[in-house]
Amino acid sequence: MKPVIVEYPAEHVALLRLNRPEARNALSTELRVELRDQFNRLSEDSSIRAIVITGDMRAFAAGADIKGMVDIGAAEMMARNDEKNWAAIRNCPKPVIAAVDGYALGGGCELAMHADIIIAGEAAIFGQPEVRLGIMPGAGGTQRLARAIGKYRAMLMLLTAGTLTAQEAFAAGLVSKVVDGDGAVAEALSVAGTIAAMPPLAVAEIKQVLLAGMETNLETALMLERRAAYLLFETDDKRAAMTAFVNKNKPSFTGS
Ligand code: HXC
Repeated sequence: MKPVIVEYPAEHVALLRLNRPEARNALSTELRVELRDQFNRLSEDSSIRAIVITGDMRAFAAGADIKGMVDIGAAEMMARNDEKNWAAIRNCPKPVIAAVDGYALGGGCELAMHADIIIAGEAAIFGQPEVRLGIMPGAGGTQRLARAIGKYRAMLMLLTAGTLTAQEAFAAGLVSKVVDGDGAVAEALSVAGTIAAMPPLAVAEIKQVLLAGMETNLETALMLERRAAYLLFETDDKRAAMTAFVNKNKPSFTGS
């Protein structure tokens, strides 16, 4: 059984489904490598403009595969070089949307936080319960969570293995939107479709500048923003979009 199923549900959109339902989509080494390969491939594929990642209704992903970690030590963890797998997702230039149903725990929550947008089904549960296992998050769980929801809520979650419901996660700023019932994937695909219809270079610059700006001071970030904004004035898609606005017709974009 393939650990990741790849679908193309709409033009310019790829859907990655984690496929280890028997293990609540725990992130085995095989699954992570497959995810890395898919992200590397989709990052290079100019026909793809947005990527949705999801699990199933019971679990987005229940974290790293605990059964594969029981007997391993620090040296083996280092040798696994999992960072390479996460980097492929982190460095993806296309917008990534996580559609989260069920559990997003540990590495599963970290995977969701690698996305640019998180759409949660109403029964989604977010948490970083690593402390219970005598370990801690290693793929952004302490850092991205604190940046998303603030030090005090993050500390409470991380130190007590506490969880957030979808609504709590939304209120805290961890989730972009909560959707009723089993509608998270449909909503994520709808958002992906909207993004895929936008001028791709503008989308890429917005993603890059927003993320880079979060890593630096405001003045530098504002300069980055201005440079990117001016750069987009050189694109064919900018000319097509503005001309179409003035002529009251619908533009199509080439990513040039
Ligand atoms: C391996 C897992 C798993 C996991 C679930 N399973 N989570 N296997 N790794 N992370 C397996 C169970 O062993 C079980 O297998 C099957 O999936 C169903 O799980 P149940 O517990 O029976 O299901 P349920 O009662 O619905 O509870 C779901 C759950 C619970 C709440 C998600 O399974 C759970 O708490 N899982 C662990 C979550 C966790 O601690 N994640 C953090 C991992 S550490 P069998 O064979 O019995 O049917 C991490 C970061 C590592 O992510 C960082 C290193 C630097």
